[in-house]
Amino acid sequence: MSRLAILGASGHGKVVADAAECCGWQVVDFFDDAWPRVVSNGAWQVVGDTAMLKSSLQHYDGVLVAIGNNAVRYRKMLELEELGGRLCSILHPAATISRHAVIDKGVVILAGAVVNAGADIGPGVILNTSCSVDHDCVLGACVHISPGARLAGGVKVGDLSWIGIGASVRQLINIGRHVTVGAGGVVVSDVADSLTVIGVPAKKISNKNAN
Ligand SMILES: CC(C)(COP(=O)(O)OP(=O)(O)OC[C@H]1O[C@@H](n2cnc3c(N)ncnc32)[C@H](O)[C@@H]1OP(=O)(O)O)[C@@H](O)C(=O)NCCC(=O)NCCS
Repeated sequence: MSRLAILGASGHGKVVADAAECCGWQVVDFFDDAWPRVVSNGAWQVVGDTAMLKSSLQHYDGVLVAIGNNAVRYRKMLELEELGGRLCSILHPAATISRHAVIDKGVVILAGAVVNAGADIGPGVILNTSCSVDHDCVLGACVHISPGARLAGGVKVGDLSWIGIGASVRQLINIGRHVTVGAGGVVVSDVADSLTVIGVPAKKISNKNAN
Protein backbone atom coordinates (compact mmCIF):
# COMPACT_ATOMS: atom_id res chain seq x y z
CA MET A 1 0.00 0.00 0.00
CA SER A 2 1.55 3.35 -1.05
CA ARG A 3 1.75 5.93 1.75
CA LEU A 4 2.20 9.67 1.31
CA ALA A 5 2.94 12.14 4.12
CA ILE A 6 1.98 15.77 3.56
CA LEU A 7 3.37 18.52 5.81
CA GLY A 8 0.87 21.38 6.11
CA ALA A 9 -2.81 20.69 6.87
CA SER A 10 -4.07 23.74 4.98
CA GLY A 11 -6.74 24.30 2.34
CA HIS A 12 -3.97 23.94 -0.24
CA GLY A 13 -3.01 20.70 1.51
CA LYS A 14 -6.52 19.35 0.94
CA VAL A 15 -6.27 20.05 -2.77
CA VAL A 16 -2.88 18.35 -2.88
CA ALA A 17 -4.20 15.30 -0.98
CA ASP A 18 -7.10 15.04 -3.39
CA ALA A 19 -4.73 15.25 -6.36
CA ALA A 20 -2.48 12.63 -4.74
CA GLU A 21 -5.41 10.22 -4.53
CA CYS A 22 -6.15 10.86 -8.21
CA CYS A 23 -2.51 9.89 -8.85
CA GLY A 24 -3.01 6.55 -7.08
CA TRP A 25 -1.61 7.20 -3.58
CA GLN A 26 -3.53 4.85 -1.28
CA VAL A 27 -2.89 6.38 2.15
CA VAL A 28 -2.44 10.12 2.64
CA ASP A 29 -1.55 11.37 6.15
CA PHE A 30 -1.13 14.98 7.19
CA PHE A 31 1.39 16.38 9.65
CA ASP A 32 1.06 19.89 11.04
CA ASP A 33 2.34 21.76 14.08
CA ALA A 34 -1.30 22.50 14.99
CA TRP A 35 -1.59 18.81 15.98
CA PRO A 36 -3.03 17.56 18.39
CA ARG A 37 -5.39 20.59 18.48
CA VAL A 38 -6.16 19.85 14.82
CA VAL A 39 -6.72 16.16 14.02
CA SER A 40 -8.31 16.31 10.59
CA ASN A 41 -8.07 18.25 7.35
CA GLY A 42 -11.19 17.61 5.29
CA ALA A 43 -11.36 13.91 4.54
CA TRP A 44 -7.84 13.24 5.83
CA GLN A 45 -6.33 12.70 9.27
CA VAL A 46 -3.65 14.86 10.84
CA VAL A 47 -1.51 12.29 12.62
CA GLY A 48 1.35 14.32 14.09
CA ASP A 49 3.54 17.41 14.02
CA THR A 50 6.77 18.18 12.16
CA ALA A 51 8.90 16.39 14.76
CA MET A 52 6.79 13.24 14.42
CA LEU A 53 7.04 13.37 10.66
CA LYS A 54 10.81 13.64 10.89
CA SER A 55 10.96 10.53 13.06
CA SER A 56 8.61 8.49 10.90
CA LEU A 57 9.83 9.27 7.38
CA GLN A 58 10.83 5.65 6.86
CA HIS A 59 7.15 4.63 7.06
CA TYR A 60 6.24 6.70 4.00
CA ASP A 61 6.94 6.06 0.32
CA GLY A 62 6.77 9.78 -0.39
CA VAL A 63 6.68 13.11 1.39
CA LEU A 64 5.52 16.50 0.20
CA VAL A 65 5.35 19.96 1.74
CA ALA A 66 2.01 21.71 1.12
CA ILE A 67 2.78 25.04 2.78
CA GLY A 68 1.80 28.09 0.73
CA ASN A 69 4.57 30.38 2.00
CA ASN A 70 7.35 29.80 -0.51
CA ALA A 71 10.31 30.38 1.82
CA VAL A 72 8.87 28.15 4.55
CA ARG A 73 8.04 25.44 2.02
CA TYR A 74 11.62 25.54 0.72
CA ARG A 75 13.16 25.31 4.20
CA LYS A 76 10.92 22.41 5.30
CA MET A 77 11.55 20.60 2.04
CA LEU A 78 15.33 20.77 2.48
CA GLU A 79 15.05 19.62 6.11
CA LEU A 80 12.94 16.59 5.20
CA GLU A 81 15.20 15.66 2.31
CA GLU A 82 18.28 15.87 4.47
CA LEU A 83 16.67 13.39 6.87
CA GLY A 84 16.12 10.92 4.05
CA GLY A 85 12.52 11.84 3.14
CA ARG A 86 11.59 10.79 -0.38
CA LEU A 87 10.35 14.05 -1.88
CA CYS A 88 7.81 13.27 -4.53
CA SER A 89 5.88 15.36 -7.04
CA ILE A 90 2.12 15.24 -7.56
CA LEU A 91 1.08 15.81 -11.16
CA HIS A 92 -2.73 15.79 -11.38
CA PRO A 93 -3.95 13.54 -14.21
CA ALA A 94 -6.11 16.42 -15.47
CA ALA A 95 -3.06 18.68 -15.94
CA THR A 96 -1.53 18.79 -19.42
CA ILE A 97 2.22 18.46 -19.14
CA SER A 98 4.50 18.23 -22.15
CA ARG A 99 6.81 15.24 -22.13
CA HIS A 100 9.43 17.74 -23.20
CA ALA A 101 9.12 19.70 -19.97
CA VAL A 102 11.44 19.04 -17.03
CA ILE A 103 9.79 18.72 -13.63
CA ASP A 104 11.92 18.65 -10.46
CA LYS A 105 11.06 17.03 -7.10
CA GLY A 106 8.51 18.26 -4.56
CA VAL A 107 6.44 19.86 -7.32
CA VAL A 108 2.63 20.05 -7.33
CA ILE A 109 0.80 20.55 -10.62
CA LEU A 110 -2.96 20.83 -10.15
CA ALA A 111 -5.97 20.15 -12.35
CA GLY A 112 -6.27 22.17 -15.53
CA ALA A 113 -2.70 23.46 -15.47
CA VAL A 114 -0.82 23.41 -18.77
CA VAL A 115 2.96 23.11 -19.03
CA ASN A 116 4.36 23.34 -22.53
CA ALA A 117 7.47 21.97 -24.23
CA GLY A 118 10.85 23.13 -23.00
CA ALA A 119 9.54 24.42 -19.66
CA ASP A 120 11.85 23.78 -16.71
CA ILE A 121 10.06 23.60 -13.35
CA GLY A 122 12.25 23.85 -10.24
CA PRO A 123 11.95 21.96 -6.94
CA GLY A 124 8.97 22.66 -4.70
CA VAL A 125 7.10 24.68 -7.33
CA ILE A 126 3.30 24.92 -7.12
CA LEU A 127 1.50 25.20 -10.45
CA ASN A 128 -1.98 25.91 -9.17
CA THR A 129 -5.36 25.14 -10.74
CA SER A 130 -5.68 26.09 -14.43
CA CYS A 131 -2.51 28.15 -14.67
CA SER A 132 -0.38 27.97 -17.80
CA VAL A 133 3.37 27.90 -18.19
CA ASP A 134 4.31 28.18 -21.81
CA HIS A 135 7.26 26.91 -23.83
CA ASP A 136 10.76 27.43 -22.50
CA CYS A 137 9.76 29.08 -19.23
CA VAL A 138 12.25 28.52 -16.40
CA LEU A 139 10.90 28.51 -12.83
CA GLY A 140 13.25 28.51 -9.84
CA ALA A 141 12.86 26.76 -6.50
CA CYS A 142 9.53 27.04 -4.66
CA VAL A 143 7.90 29.44 -7.09
CA HIS A 144 4.08 29.54 -6.86
CA ILE A 145 2.00 30.21 -9.97
CA SER A 146 -1.53 30.89 -8.63
CA PRO A 147 -4.79 29.70 -10.18
CA GLY A 148 -5.42 31.03 -13.67
CA ALA A 149 -2.12 32.89 -13.95
CA ARG A 150 -0.41 32.75 -17.33
CA LEU A 151 3.23 32.87 -18.29
CA ALA A 152 3.94 33.37 -21.99
CA GLY A 153 6.90 31.68 -23.66
CA GLY A 154 10.44 32.07 -22.37
CA VAL A 155 9.55 33.74 -19.07
CA LYS A 156 12.03 33.27 -16.21
CA VAL A 157 10.83 33.37 -12.61
CA GLY A 158 13.41 33.42 -9.80
CA ASP A 159 13.39 31.32 -6.62
CA LEU A 160 10.55 31.88 -4.12
CA SER A 161 8.53 34.23 -6.33
CA TRP A 162 4.74 34.28 -6.28
CA ILE A 163 2.62 35.07 -9.33
CA GLY A 164 -0.87 36.01 -8.09
CA ILE A 165 -4.20 34.65 -9.19
CA GLY A 166 -5.11 35.56 -12.77
CA ALA A 167 -1.89 37.50 -13.44
CA SER A 168 -0.26 37.43 -16.89
CA VAL A 169 3.38 37.75 -17.85
CA ARG A 170 4.47 38.77 -21.35
CA GLN A 171 6.91 36.57 -23.26
CA LEU A 172 10.64 36.60 -22.45
CA ILE A 173 10.22 38.63 -19.25
CA ASN A 174 12.66 38.03 -16.38
CA ILE A 175 11.13 38.08 -12.91
CA GLY A 176 13.65 38.10 -10.07
CA ARG A 177 13.81 36.14 -6.82
CA HIS A 178 11.25 36.60 -4.08
CA VAL A 179 9.00 38.78 -6.23
CA THR A 180 5.22 39.05 -5.73
CA VAL A 181 3.01 39.79 -8.71
CA GLY A 182 -0.41 40.87 -7.41
CA ALA A 183 -3.66 39.23 -8.44
CA GLY A 184 -4.69 40.19 -11.98
CA GLY A 185 -1.46 42.07 -12.71
CA VAL A 186 -0.02 42.18 -16.22
CA VAL A 187 3.77 42.15 -16.27
CA VAL A 188 5.24 43.75 -19.39
CA SER A 189 8.78 44.54 -18.21
CA ASP A 190 11.42 42.78 -16.12
CA VAL A 191 10.97 42.81 -12.33
CA ALA A 192 13.96 43.07 -9.99
CA ASP A 193 14.43 40.84 -6.93
CA SER A 194 12.16 41.23 -3.89
CA LEU A 195 9.67 43.67 -5.44
CA THR A 196 5.87 43.50 -5.27
CA VAL A 197 4.19 44.68 -8.47
CA ILE A 198 0.46 45.16 -9.16
CA GLY A 199 -1.88 46.45 -11.82
CA VAL A 200 -2.00 46.76 -15.59
CA PRO A 201 0.75 47.28 -16.54
CA ALA A 202 2.25 46.02 -13.29
CA LYS A 203 4.07 48.66 -11.22
CA LYS A 204 5.90 48.31 -7.93
CA ILE A 205 4.33 49.00 -4.54
CA SER A 206 5.88 48.79 -1.09
CA ASN A 207 5.83 45.29 0.39
CA LYS A 208 3.56 44.56 3.31
CA ASN A 209 1.94 41.16 3.37
CA ALA A 210 3.70 39.88 0.32
CA ASN A 211 5.19 36.42 -0.05
C1 LIG B 1 -0.35 42.32 -4.11
C2 LIG B 1 -0.74 41.83 -2.75
C3 LIG B 1 0.29 40.79 -2.25
C4 LIG B 1 -0.73 43.04 -1.81
O1 LIG B 1 -1.13 42.66 -0.55
P1 LIG B 1 -1.03 43.74 0.66
O2 LIG B 1 0.40 44.18 0.81
O3 LIG B 1 -1.72 43.14 1.83
O4 LIG B 1 -1.80 45.00 0.09
P2 LIG B 1 -3.18 45.64 0.55
O5 LIG B 1 -4.31 44.67 0.46
O6 LIG B 1 -2.95 46.34 1.86
O7 LIG B 1 -3.38 46.73 -0.59
C5 LIG B 1 -2.51 47.86 -0.75
C6 LIG B 1 -3.08 48.70 -1.87
O8 LIG B 1 -2.87 48.02 -3.12
C7 LIG B 1 -4.12 47.71 -3.74
N1 LIG B 1 -4.01 46.36 -4.28
C8 LIG B 1 -3.70 45.24 -3.58
N2 LIG B 1 -3.62 44.19 -4.39
C9 LIG B 1 -3.87 44.63 -5.63
C10 LIG B 1 -3.94 44.01 -6.90
N3 LIG B 1 -3.70 42.71 -7.02
N4 LIG B 1 -4.22 44.77 -7.97
C11 LIG B 1 -4.46 46.10 -7.84
N5 LIG B 1 -4.40 46.75 -6.65
C12 LIG B 1 -4.14 46.02 -5.56
C13 LIG B 1 -5.19 47.82 -2.64
O9 LIG B 1 -6.45 48.15 -3.16
C14 LIG B 1 -4.60 48.92 -1.79
O10 LIG B 1 -4.85 50.16 -2.39
P3 LIG B 1 -5.10 51.49 -1.50
O11 LIG B 1 -3.83 51.68 -0.70
O12 LIG B 1 -5.35 52.54 -2.52
O13 LIG B 1 -6.27 51.16 -0.63
C15 LIG B 1 -2.15 41.14 -2.71
O14 LIG B 1 -3.22 42.07 -2.79
C16 LIG B 1 -2.34 40.14 -3.85
O15 LIG B 1 -2.71 40.46 -4.96
N6 LIG B 1 -2.07 38.86 -3.51
C17 LIG B 1 -2.25 37.76 -4.42
C18 LIG B 1 -3.39 36.87 -3.92
C19 LIG B 1 -3.47 35.58 -4.67
O16 LIG B 1 -3.03 35.45 -5.78
N7 LIG B 1 -4.00 34.56 -4.03
C20 LIG B 1 -4.08 33.24 -4.62
C21 LIG B 1 -3.56 32.24 -3.67
S1 LIG B 1 -3.65 30.63 -4.34
